[in-house]
Amino acid sequence: MRLLIRFSAIFTLIFGSGMVIAGFLTYRRLQDDARTEVRDQARLMFSAMQGVRTYTNVQLKPILNPIQEQEKKFLPQTVPAFAATENIGYIRASFPDYSYKEAALNPTNPRDRAVDWEADIISSFRNTPSLERLTGERESSTGPSLFFAQPIRAEAGCLPCHSEPEKAPAAMLAKYGPSNGFGWKLNEVVAAQIISVPMTVPLQMAQNAFHRLLIDLTLIFVVGLAVLNLTLYFMIARPVGRLSNMADQISLGQLDVPELPAEGHDEVAQLASSFNRMRRSLVTAMKMLGEQGG
Ligand code: HEC
Repeated sequence: MRLLIRFSAIFTLIFGSGMVIAGFLTYRRLQDDARTEVRDQARLMFSAMQGVRTYTNVQLKPILNPIQEQEKKFLPQTVPAFAATENIGYIRASFPDYSYKEAALNPTNPRDRAVDWEADIISSFRNTPSLERLTGERESSTGPSLFFAQPIRAEAGCLPCHSEPEKAPAAMLAKYGPSNGFGWKLNEVVAAQIISVPMTVPLQMAQNAFHRLLIDLTLIFVVGLAVLNLTLYFMIARPVGRLSNMADQISLGQLDVPELPAEGHDEVAQLASSFNRMRRSLVTAMKMLGEQGG
């Protein structure tokens, strides 16, 4: 039996270290894949939002501008930031954990005001002018979430509406008032487009896949160990045990023990037939001794 225990220990050691290494690598790969998937989603959503902005600028604005002038009314539908923010509102009706915000430190529309972590992102863009995008993870109220952000800089064309209230269109001032969203400086990072994508589901799926792998490997291990033990028992431990029994009996003078079965060509069968031969020689030798003595 000691042989079986030793082989089982070696098998467990080899399989166990293989399992730890495979588990570690697979866990990392699954987590990386989940993050890549979330990042791709974020990038796709970001492009969709850029599409809405461009559509507003290129197609809607030319149509709505004459109406604004005619009616002396400011239509926020002409503002790309408004269009994108409204759009995500409709998307969030089906996907509430996804968000997009044009977060500004000093926004025209108060709903765009940056909260603390968004303000940190804007500060990073301000402090590092070469930084063109920022990705990171944060703990949101609904679980881990990935954000993807790009800075918005004030250009010359923005200043009429965002520098001094006196320069802004009267209809816009009438709607938004003179106290918010002004004082922006040329080329200054004034806001950031920030996409947030929830990570809970992909991470959970990665976790589940990892658990399934562990269960599968454990099953393979248990079956493998059982097969190894049965094989060792029937092919080596039991026949060798019989041989040692026979040797014991012969050494105690019991020469009439039956021959051992020695089928096959493996080492154990060879050992059995050698034993049988030795027993026969021993019996003959003993007989000859007996005859001489008598
Ligand atoms: C015709 C006036 C006008 C011009 C020109 C304009 N904006 Fe605005 N902008 C607005 C108004 C009005 C809002 C608020 C819309 C709303 O209600 O969401 C706004 C909102 C924004 C916001 C969202 C944060 C906030 O202030 O509420 C950003 C970012 C922004 N604008 C950036 C720009 C940039 C960059 C440019 C130049 C490329 C620009 N804007 C040009 C009028 C303008």
